Amino acid sequence: MRSNQPQDITNITEDREFRAFHTFLRTARNYQEKEIYNATYQAYVRICDELGVKPEMSDDVLAVMDEQPEYQLYTWCYRYLQQFKYCSPDFGMQPKAHAEADRIVKELDAAAAVSEKAGLLKLNPKIDYPDYYKLADFHQHPGGVWDDEVDGLVYELGRRTTRPWEEDPNDLYRLMYSHLPKGKTFKRVLDWGTGQGGMILTWMEGHPEAEAYGVDISGPCLKLVNKRAMERGYKIHLSQQDVEKLDYPDNYFDLVMFTFMWHEIPPGPTKRILKEVERILKPGGVCFGMEFLPQKGSIWSEAMAHTLAYANNEPFAPASFKYPYCETAKEVGFSDAKIVWYDEIMTPLPTDKWTPPQMMYPLYTFTK
Ligand SMILES: C[S@@+](CC[C@H](N)C(=O)[O-])C[C@H]1O[C@@H](n2cnc3c(N)ncnc32)[C@H](O)[C@@H]1O
Repeated sequence: MRSNQPQDITNITEDREFRAFHTFLRTARNYQEKEIYNATYQAYVRICDELGVKPEMSDDVLAVMDEQPEYQLYTWCYRYLQQFKYCSPDFGMQPKAHAEADRIVKELDAAAAVSEKAGLLKLNPKIDYPDYYKLADFHQHPGGVWDDEVDGLVYELGRRTTRPWEEDPNDLYRLMYSHLPKGKTFKRVLDWGTGQGGMILTWMEGHPEAEAYGVDISGPCLKLVNKRAMERGYKIHLSQQDVEKLDYPDNYFDLVMFTFMWHEIPPGPTKRILKEVERILKPGGVCFGMEFLPQKGSIWSEAMAHTLAYANNEPFAPASFKYPYCETAKEVGFSDAKIVWYDEIMTPLPTDKWTPPQMMYPLYTFTK
């Protein structure tokens, strides 16, 4: 029985135990990302001092940290809190969603049927998933975000504790939007790799008149976004496609925006994908997005970013840290391509002696 939520909102039953589970997860993940992360850095600096070593590459940093209990604890927490979050038989998001799958899938399918008829949702059940997409269960989402009808909902629930220090994960998009190039009008916008849809749904809050689009290769994710759009009364054109070959016309969008896409795409198809983005943008249009990267110039941060990649099944992240996106964007035809770094757009972190280097969230702006 769903007593605590409106009947027309698709969700799992969020009983007290489930909410308490999430409170535990948030607290544990915050502890991991603050106290254990800081302790790992302190121990690393101390051991380097004691051994008189000065690592020059991130692999050397990892060699120093390998037997360090603080680092082991950090890595263990990363891997197993995430598994616990998805798979715990009593509270995990996937078993919870499966227990109510009959109802949830019926609700998603009913909404999808309406939108397909209205031409707002285009699904392609025969889509050819690239091998790289099927290679790993990204962020340890069991089976990936595409092969199970409840995947969109599980992805949305999981996002609550992906960056556990955020009360509202959509604040990240609001922050991004405040840094969009000024003096341009973005009428027709595409959320490129829309996932659980937070980005385009947040855009619609501020631009209900926008001609909005979302593309993703995952059908279950798009069905969830479609349901959320209907619940909020938004009109969003959603389409299941591979970003390497899109069916939008040339010169179509004013804005193509993205979050956290590059680290899931290997270097091989990246140039072709960037060319495809350039093709669908109008002259003067903007591709604008965010990714995560190790802190510039810090091999310790790079080592921790590689740790995240291994612990959280992100096999292409290390290659993405080194990929020359701006140079490649210019090669495929963008007239300008730049990165604005986190510390240039936000208040810099305190410079306490023990503040460890943090992961960064740079903004990419490619102008056609
Ligand atoms: C890390 S998620 C990011 C989702 C969302 N933008 C966010 O920030 O939460 C990456 C998304 O890209 C989609 N994706 C990955 N490769 C793709 C491809 N080749 N074509 C279309 N979508 C793809 C995945 O299905 C997933 O939803």
